[in-house]
Amino acid sequence: LTQLRGDQVIVVSNREPYLHERLDDGQVIVRRPASGLVTAVEPVMRACSGTWIAHGSGSADRDFVDAHDRIAVPPGTNEYSLRRVWLTKEEEEGYYNGFANEGLWPLCHVAHVRPVFRESDWEMYKHVNERFADAVAAEARGDDPVVLVQDYHFALLPAMIRERLPRATILTFWHIPWPNPESFGICPWRREILQGMLGSTILGFHTRFHCKNFIETVDRSLEARIEHEHSTISFHDKETLVESYPISIDWPEGDRGWPSIEECRRRVFDRLGLGPFTILAVGVDRFDYTKGILERLHAVERLLEKYPDWVGKFVFVQVAAPTRSALEEYRAFQQRIHSVTDRINTRYGQPGYQPVRLLAEHHDHEAVNELFRAAHICVVTSLHDGMNLVSKEFVAARDDEQGVLVLSRFAGAARELSEALIVNPYHVEETADALHRAATMPAAEQRERMASLRMTVRENNVFRWAGRMLADAGRYRLRERIAARV
Ligand code: G6P
Repeated sequence: LTQLRGDQVIVVSNREPYLHERLDDGQVIVRRPASGLVTAVEPVMRACSGTWIAHGSGSADRDFVDAHDRIAVPPGTNEYSLRRVWLTKEEEEGYYNGFANEGLWPLCHVAHVRPVFRESDWEMYKHVNERFADAVAAEARGDDPVVLVQDYHFALLPAMIRERLPRATILTFWHIPWPNPESFGICPWRREILQGMLGSTILGFHTRFHCKNFIETVDRSLEARIEHEHSTISFHDKETLVESYPISIDWPEGDRGWPSIEECRRRVFDRLGLGPFTILAVGVDRFDYTKGILERLHAVERLLEKYPDWVGKFVFVQVAAPTRSALEEYRAFQQRIHSVTDRINTRYGQPGYQPVRLLAEHHDHEAVNELFRAAHICVVTSLHDGMNLVSKEFVAARDDEQGVLVLSRFAGAARELSEALIVNPYHVEETADALHRAATMPAAEQRERMASLRMTVRENNVFRWAGRMLADAGRYRLRERIAARV
């Protein structure tokens, strides 16, 4: 991150890294939201101490800002500044629940949930993007800050910032997949969205495949010049580099003071009342229909049916962090998962044995880490996922080089983590067999796979993700400075 010395860095995302929540007893707690975006961007921000602009969404957020709506975070160490933007109920409804989460989210994830496009949501989405563009302009000290725009909530923001700060270096990262041009083509405002994104200096996706889909989508929708060799798009005399930057995690170096694997296992087994010979598989996700939780339950059920020796011995624990529950699609999905869990438990449960545990509540990082260290298997079966950082966090948690990762081929992470057991989550039989294989895998094979996975994630950590993007940005800034002299 040394490229940034002297430059002002502004991050914009919808979700904020710290929420102040007032509990029923009046006490205020600080919560870290369940968000892959926040997991990845926060360590980068701490390293380069800039300003993070985000929607202030905690119930006590307003009580903890100064007159400019700013607060120094992380609480206690104050390494960078968080500026909270307040949205009205109507703004949140149209921009966040509506266009972002009922429109763009299902549009970009091929999970067979139909996107909803309402004119009123779109208008609100534009309006809120303008509001964030104003916040960026207000935070900018000079005319050429480095602005890191995050995710599908802000497709229009790059061009809006460009209007206000023509010399800004705008790096946009799209944290979710980009679908093929046919799929994206159903969006009534596809041209406006593409034009908005092309305000970026650099546009990043997790994989080369998503970049190709984006470039093809532009090719079909806009009069733009595409240079495939350099992966650039020129539109209205402005060039955008479209590049893949696989996102990652802050690799835990040195002694983190974690309890031993045995201790973690003892605590988790005690808490859940598991027998000492239980094989424990875990899933940790937001409670979202893209994560393949239903498919995963079907695979567990099939495992117990096909390999009855596991009945009484194999337990699957699903942590499902509540998310977007204002949306009917999410509420219906969550109910369905509860009822399938009950069905499996009725079918295979015995006194003292419940094959599936659904923990539908927020777990903090320490609790998740403890669960990862206690487990024999981690199951990630997303139907479609930009990257999926849960898979990388599981690998990071296993400094004993044991444990098996079962990973969906439709998660971006599958491109890097090839030593996992890769599955097609739509194929119940294949996934059930992978669970069986994971549960019976010899320690030596686990070690071989896990050691290799750990090397990959350690090397390609989140600082490399940010570093590569910023190095590319540095080259653009230099080139522009030289061109300005001519
Ligand atoms: C995904 C998105 C993020 C989002 C996160 C949590 O990872 O890419 O932008 O923050 O989900 O969703 P939420 O709607 O709670 O912010």
